Amino acid sequence: MATERTPAGAFVIRNLAAVATPVGHEAVRGPAMRTLLTVENAAIAVADGRIVWVGRERDLPVEMAGFDEVDGELGTAVPGFVDSHTHLPFAGYRESEFNRRIHGETYTEIAESGGGIASTVRSTREASLDELAANVVRRARTMVEYGTTTAEAKSGYGLNFEVEMRQLEAIEMARADSPVRLVATCLAAHDFPPEVDRSKSKEREEWIEEIIGRILPEVRRRDLAKFCDVFVEKGVFGPEEGRRILEAGIANGLIPRVHADELSDSDSAAMAVEFGASSADHLMWISERGIKKLAKSSTVANLLPGTSFFLMSDRFAPARRLIDEGAIVSLSTDCNPGSSMTESMQIVMQLATLRMGMAAEEALTAATLNGAASLGIAATTGSLEAGKSADIVVIDAPGYLHLIYHFGVNLVSGVWREGVRVA
Ligand code: NIG
Ligand code: FE
Repeated sequence: MATERTPAGAFVIRNLAAVATPVGHEAVRGPAMRTLLTVENAAIAVADGRIVWVGRERDLPVEMAGFDEVDGELGTAVPGFVDSHTHLPFAGYRESEFNRRIHGETYTEIAESGGGIASTVRSTREASLDELAANVVRRARTMVEYGTTTAEAKSGYGLNFEVEMRQLEAIEMARADSPVRLVATCLAAHDFPPEVDRSKSKEREEWIEEIIGRILPEVRRRDLAKFCDVFVEKGVFGPEEGRRILEAGIANGLIPRVHADELSDSDSAAMAVEFGASSADHLMWISERGIKKLAKSSTVANLLPGTSFFLMSDRFAPARRLIDEGAIVSLSTDCNPGSSMTESMQIVMQLATLRMGMAAEEALTAATLNGAASLGIAATTGSLEAGKSADIVVIDAPGYLHLIYHFGVNLVSGVWREGVRVA
């Protein structure tokens, strides 16, 4: 029975087989990534959108006994997943390219024949703001069904001033209806626009100038993104070009992230560290030098094994080496229509363990607290602790290991974001 002192909207999730969570307000690195707080026969109390207590149900403080009750049905509570690398505001799909790939063509061959990023740029340019925002919301609804409560979302399929802005506006517009918290990144430097001849230095320079002189300042003026990103890669942006773009991003108050060492070793993980980037992402081709640099930095190594899997590559990022050297590792979907068409952080954790040698505990830390740290929000989300936002996932399983072990199905039975049930 509710007492007068029970805060409005306060509730307790009771009858949980377990709670499993990393602990802390900042990123966890190296061997500490394996340390989870686990509580059996647990309960979680929530008030005003925040977690106020986590522990054994029989120890529930008396003042919380009157909170509304939610039956955890002997499931396991984990933190809402933080997907810190996605390309959500895109239009159109590339299933026929996917079909060509499963019949033997490579991602690079398809890109060289006019497909790839250029194909999504064409369809994204044709989409209205409302359509792009609706696409973001639709994908966010799928994400939340699979346990994600925060997602980063990048532009990068406009590749001109107007449509880069439209993609970022779509993220802003989607926030009103998205069950997932959205954090925006300007990735105008995803590629050269299809109409630019990248073999001509004058044409390259014009696009880089457009990014530096016009797009990034406008993003700042309108406060449309927190981060800026650049794809440093053979055939895309060279190291010097990458540096100039990151410098311009920083000058405009944006925090760098870098698509680094994805398709070849371009020493871009080291560049991310040099610029104090929040994350260096992909890293399939990271060198020993890059691993050592990341390990000594607070730049998060954001690994996206869905991309290797979807591109049918046996080359996965060296998660074990990174963790064993002491780097901060996070996991994300890379959700995009070309190289990783999934919203599910569950499959990403399964690939991280089954294909990259990560422990289940490391995968959970990487998919929650460390992702939150790379987005600069680990003080308020990413773990189940009193004081943090009530971003809670309950899975229909007696323990967190089932997240990995029971693969290919959706185990999520309930999701709360800021204390509001969203799935
Ligand atoms: O993160 N690295 C480049 N960008 C995407 C792929 C984009 C696409 O194929 O549309 C990625 O893998
Ligand atoms: Fe990406």
